[in-house]
Amino acid sequence: MKGAFVTLIALLTCSSAIASTPDGEMLFQENCSVCHGARGIGGSAPRLAGDASEWKSKVFERAVLSGIDDHGKPLKAPMPHWAGTSFKSDNGAMPSKLEVDAIQKYLHKQK
Ligand code: HEC
Repeated sequence: MKGAFVTLIALLTCSSAIASTPDGEMLFQENCSVCHGARGIGGSAPRLAGDASEWKSKVFERAVLSGIDDHGKPLKAPMPHWAGTSFKSDNGAMPSKLEVDAIQKYLHKQK
């Protein structure tokens, strides 16, 4: 019984460690690159690397989650409002700020 308890704690600790370091590159490739281009260099949607990648994280989070840009203007479709949806590998869970920050960090490294 004690062994099972220790295993359970180990599993919980381990999965929270994974959750606290989202893979920004994977999240970007799966959810954003189709419009924003490989490595965020732009496609049908604007370039993000070297542009929005340099915004304050709060401004970037607001753009991604709520669709409001750095000038306070609404972003036009087809940019999704991610707060109302889910990243592909998240099984319906709302994207977290940590995940959005990880995407921005990945884009920051691409410029
Ligand atoms: C279906 C296409 C599509 C997908 C998928 C998409 N976007 Fe966008 N995104 C757009 C379009 C189009 C715009 C420009 C909207 C406008 O100018 O009003 C945009 C704008 C943005 C902006 C503001 C850029 C600026 O300079 O003003 C950010 C930041 C952004 N997207 C981040 C993301 C992130 C991060 C993801 C993935 C989680 C993502 N987008 C997925 C189409 C998309």
